[in-house]
Amino acid sequence: MSLSRVFLSPPHMSQQERALLLDAFDSNWIAPLGPHVDALEKEFAEAVGAEQAVALSSGTAALHLALVLLGVKAGDEVLTSTLTFSATVNAVTYVGAAPVLIDSEPNTWNMDPNLLAEELHACARRNRLPKAVLVVDLYGQCADYGPIRRLCERYDVPIIEDAAEALGASYDGQSAGTFGEVGAFSFNGNKIITTSGGGMMVCRSEEMAEQARFLATQARDPAPHYQHSRIGYNYRMSNLLAAVGRGQLRVLEDRVAARRENYEFYRDALADAPGVDFMPEHPQSRSTRWLTCVTVDPQRFGAARDDVRLALEAENIEARPTWKPMHLQPVFSNCRVRGGEVAERIFRLGLCLPSGSSLTGEDLLRVVDVIRAAGGCRPLEFDLRTALPPKRKAA
Ligand SMILES: Cc1ncc(COP(=O)(O)O)c(C=O)c1O
Repeated sequence: MSLSRVFLSPPHMSQQERALLLDAFDSNWIAPLGPHVDALEKEFAEAVGAEQAVALSSGTAALHLALVLLGVKAGDEVLTSTLTFSATVNAVTYVGAAPVLIDSEPNTWNMDPNLLAEELHACARRNRLPKAVLVVDLYGQCADYGPIRRLCERYDVPIIEDAAEALGASYDGQSAGTFGEVGAFSFNGNKIITTSGGGMMVCRSEEMAEQARFLATQARDPAPHYQHSRIGYNYRMSNLLAAVGRGQLRVLEDRVAARRENYEFYRDALADAPGVDFMPEHPQSRSTRWLTCVTVDPQRFGAARDDVRLALEAENIEARPTWKPMHLQPVFSNCRVRGGEVAERIFRLGLCLPSGSSLTGEDLLRVVDVIRAAGGCRPLEFDLRTALPPKRKAA
């Protein structure tokens, strides 16, 4: 295979990260915490408009702490999205609670507010309301928080927002991650910005943020010796990684713009491909298009999702099926589920296309040429080949 590999969503560093990392290194703040952690928390909170931010070792850690902080315990129920990455639902099980899985709606691919209403209604009738609703913002797009928030307020159930995939997105002008009592973000290597591994929890009160920091550093009571009155965790972010995160945060807007440009190019270049549909964007929402996702209808396109994926792989291009819903996962097969058909269809037909912010014009054209050929479409027209965003022009 001669052409270099096109990855799904590789890290994209700028020069600032290197300088900040070296600064952290040279200052010998290597061990946990340090000035870059404090600065990242402050800068991150400002960037998303949250009162408080706590830098952690992963997005999963942020979700786990969110559940602990809201007092979710063994025997409680937590309503959450079935179409997500396993980390969301795993976190619910870490506190011993039972996940209840809610289907997606076709308009956002996120939690269906109507099904949430039905489930909350059924829970209320049983006199057993969930301890929290854990809403996921999928592939860079916020869920439909208007109705979701109204429902949760009516039943007085707190929202935890899993915005691991949606940093930089907004809904009604408000930043992803700030719609619940607590929000969780990921800086995992494939995310829109990365610290190689890391996460951030945002919340509304200083007390809660302080409690999160306490629990994330092994719950050490204030004493000169090591004393513990609670179970703690080792979840804090290192100063070295926080330095990288600060550099990445400064280029977040550029990264969002580049990923949206990828989407716009794919959309235009595949507009005439029958049966290829893009993940919809809700009118109130601005997606980052962290990943550009399509569904491929095999009858109309003439090739199935996996034919397209394998054709791309044969050309050294990475594409992945959309998430397999949690209610279809063996490990969660005992969970209660409301609906499921929408997520199942997205899983059956869905494909995530290469979406990195460092993709070149050649990369984008390679992807589109393979997809068009797989479905027997004629080659891309000259106007569209040359319509790439200025910085991405193919050579
Ligand atoms: C929806 C969702 N939730 C949670 C996570 C977990 O984040 P992390 O990998 O930083 O633990 C991820 C991704 O990794 C994710 O996509």
